[in-house]
Amino acid sequence: MSEFIDFDQSVYPFPVKPALLSSDKKAFYRERIKSLLIEKNAVIVAHYYTDSEIQALAEETGGCVADSLEMARFGARHPASTLLVAGVRFMGETAKILSPEKNVLMPTLDAQCSLDIGCPEEEFSRFCDEHPDRTVVVYANTSAAVKARADWVVTSSIAVELIEHLDSLGEKIIWAPDRHLGRYVQKQTGADILCWQGACIVHDEFKTQSLEKMKALYPEAAVLVHPESPQAIVDLADAVGSTSQLIKAAQTLPNPSMIVATDKGIFYKMQQACPEKSLYIAPTAGEGATCRTCAHCPWMAMNGLQAIAEALEGNAEHHQIHVSEQLRKKALLPLNKMLDFAESLK
Ligand code: 13P
Ligand code: SF4
Repeated sequence: MSEFIDFDQSVYPFPVKPALLSSDKKAFYRERIKSLLIEKNAVIVAHYYTDSEIQALAEETGGCVADSLEMARFGARHPASTLLVAGVRFMGETAKILSPEKNVLMPTLDAQCSLDIGCPEEEFSRFCDEHPDRTVVVYANTSAAVKARADWVVTSSIAVELIEHLDSLGEKIIWAPDRHLGRYVQKQTGADILCWQGACIVHDEFKTQSLEKMKALYPEAAVLVHPESPQAIVDLADAVGSTSQLIKAAQTLPNPSMIVATDKGIFYKMQQACPEKSLYIAPTAGEGATCRTCAHCPWMAMNGLQAIAEALEGNAEHHQIHVSEQLRKKALLPLNKMLDFAESLK
C-alpha cells in the first residue's frame, strides 16, 4: 500500500537570466578562469545541465561533467583544495558535507532547485515525526538540513536499486521530495512508499499530447525520459533514467534519433556520446507561452563564465558554501550510506 500526500507548493522566486557575453568577453573569461584554477589549486565540478561552454571548460581543465552522484564522488576524491561547483546549491552543499577541508565555491549561491525549495526542513521534519515507523529516504536535491533528518540520501541513478533493497528488508518508506520520481520508483519496486509532493519545474513542463505528435512525426526516434517527469511522459518512454543513464541509452539504443525529455543542457555530452544521431528536445509549452523553463533549468542557467571567474577571484562571501559542523556531521551519515550503496552496486 502506498500513499501520496498533497502539500501546497511554494511560489518560486525566479532568477534573472545572466546577461549574454560577447565572444571577446567569453574568450577573456575562459582564459582568466584557466589561470585562476591553477593559481587557486581549484577544479570545476559541473552538472550536465549547465551551459555547454561551462561543460567544455570543465573538460578542458581536468574537471568533471557528470550527474549529481558522480559530481559528489569526483569532488570528494579529487586532490584540489578548492572545488568550483557549477550546478545548483544542493550540489555545492553535498560537496562541502563530503569535503569539509576544501573550499567549495559556486558561481552564485542563489542557484536553487524547486525540489529543495518545496521541501522546507521544519515541515518535512514534522511529517517524518508523524510516521516514525518509516525509513526516510530523500533525494539529493534537498538542503543539508533535510538530509540531516534522513536515514538515506539517494540520486535518481540508484533510486530503484536502493528502494528495492529497503523493500526486501521489509522497510516502509517516506520518499521526498519529488512526487514523479517517488511514483516511478514505487511502480518499479512495489514498495510501501509515502511520498512528499514536490516537483521539478523543468520536468513537470513536458507535454504529453505534443510528445505523442512528435513521436508520430519522428517514428524512428527513441524517447528518453528523466523520471522527474510526469507519469504520462514516462509511459511514452523507450528508456527512463538519470542523466548519465540517458546518455548511455542514447549511445546504445539502435535508433538513429532521440527525443529527450530532460534539461537541454544534456545535449552537449549526449551529442559527444553519439555524434551520428539526431537529438530533439521533447516539447514543452515553448519560450513564449506560459512555460517558465522551456527545458532549461533557470537556476542552472545562472552559472555563467563571468560568475565563475568572480567566484575564483576570491570574493568568498558571495560564493562560498558553508555548512555548520553540527549539521554537516548529521547529513554526512545518510550521504555516506548512499555512496557505500552505490559502490556495492558496481
Ligand atoms: P541527476 O541526478 O540525474 O543528475 O539529476 C539531477 C537533477 O537535478 C535532475 O533534474
Ligand atoms: Fe532542480 Fe529541476 Fe533544476 Fe534539477 S532541473 S536542479 S530538479 S529545478
